[in-house]
Amino acid sequence: MSDSQSGGQTNTRTVVITGANGQVGRELMRAEWPSDVTVVGLTSSELDITDSAAVEATIDAIAPAVIVNAAAYTAVDKAEDDEERATAVNGHAVDHLAAAADRSGALLVHYSTDYVFDGSKDGWYVEGDPLNPIGAYGRSKAHGEAAAASTARHLVLRTAWVYGALGNNFVTTMLRLASERDELGVVADQFGCPTSAADIAAATVDLVAHEAASSAAGVVHVASPDDADWHTFAMAVFDTSANGFSGVCKQLTTAEYPTKAVRPANSRLATDRLNSLIGRQLPSWRTSLSTVVAELESKQAHNA
Ligand SMILES: NC(=O)c1ccc[n+]([C@@H]2O[C@H](COP(=O)([O-])OP(=O)(O)OC[C@H]3O[C@@H](n4cnc5c(N)ncnc54)[C@H](OP(=O)(O)O)[C@@H]3O)[C@@H](O)[C@H]2O)c1
Repeated sequence: MSDSQSGGQTNTRTVVITGANGQVGRELMRAEWPSDVTVVGLTSSELDITDSAAVEATIDAIAPAVIVNAAAYTAVDKAEDDEERATAVNGHAVDHLAAAADRSGALLVHYSTDYVFDGSKDGWYVEGDPLNPIGAYGRSKAHGEAAAASTARHLVLRTAWVYGALGNNFVTTMLRLASERDELGVVADQFGCPTSAADIAAATVDLVAHEAASSAAGVVHVASPDDADWHTFAMAVFDTSANGFSGVCKQLTTAEYPTKAVRPANSRLATDRLNSLIGRQLPSWRTSLSTVVAELESKQAHNA
């Protein structure tokens, strides 16, 4: 268990973060929280959210003002063969957290995904659009949204295409492949909003910790205001990195790059609600990509 920020002060509000070792979890741990907030991070080995007795005992003991659930089963393809486990972590475990939040009066903040949509909408998805997941991961996350919504005080933050400097993701994969291959192929007919984990963490702080937004409830899309397809995103990674990519990066169709899980062709998330709640929009994914690539390259230089 790790504490950060202002521990030991009186009149502090405690924010518990589950899944504290994930991409978003780690960014939440290093985010700038207000001085009256004490952050308690729990990794999967410190709190397995599928263990209902452990969830109950831990939340009762800490009595947090806010539970931020950054724990999840995020292996989209693997979930197709392992839906039971994905549902246990992304669905049933949220039932446990919701029950604990209700008992302690805490606000439950839960992350969800653009993959709860089927991708057939002609335009950007808004919070109230009907869910129709087309894969096991999306179904498990839709279950989690319903579980979180069963609490009196909840926020479901739907995000998308998460990347960052702390963890493995599309950006780290592209940087690695650029150094290993002469030719790459990346899907160019799936559209979404690449969103940096640090931007998600900063928006979460704004939503839960500041007075103006703290009365927010329900679903909020937390995503970059700009969209991309995966090929465009990959090319931006190469353009941003110091080494670039001297090989060929082909545009592929989804049909040319079959994966175990079917992914929505369009999962762009409209963020008008977020913008009005926190009084700003998140940075463009291109801006945040530069920050992330710079941090990755500086770590690489440091380790060399
Ligand atoms: N990654 C994306 O592209 C993406 C896109 C849309 C939405 N989201 C959502 O955003 C949220 C954060 O995702 P992320 O990218 O930060 O995920 P991540 O990097 O995969 O981190 C998930 C964390 O959850 C932990 N975890 C797994 N099972 C657990 C359990 N039973 N109990 C406690 N902790 C457990 C993992 O621990 P271990 O390290 O021990 O496995 C890991 O540290 C999730 O709700 C995800 O569904 C992600």
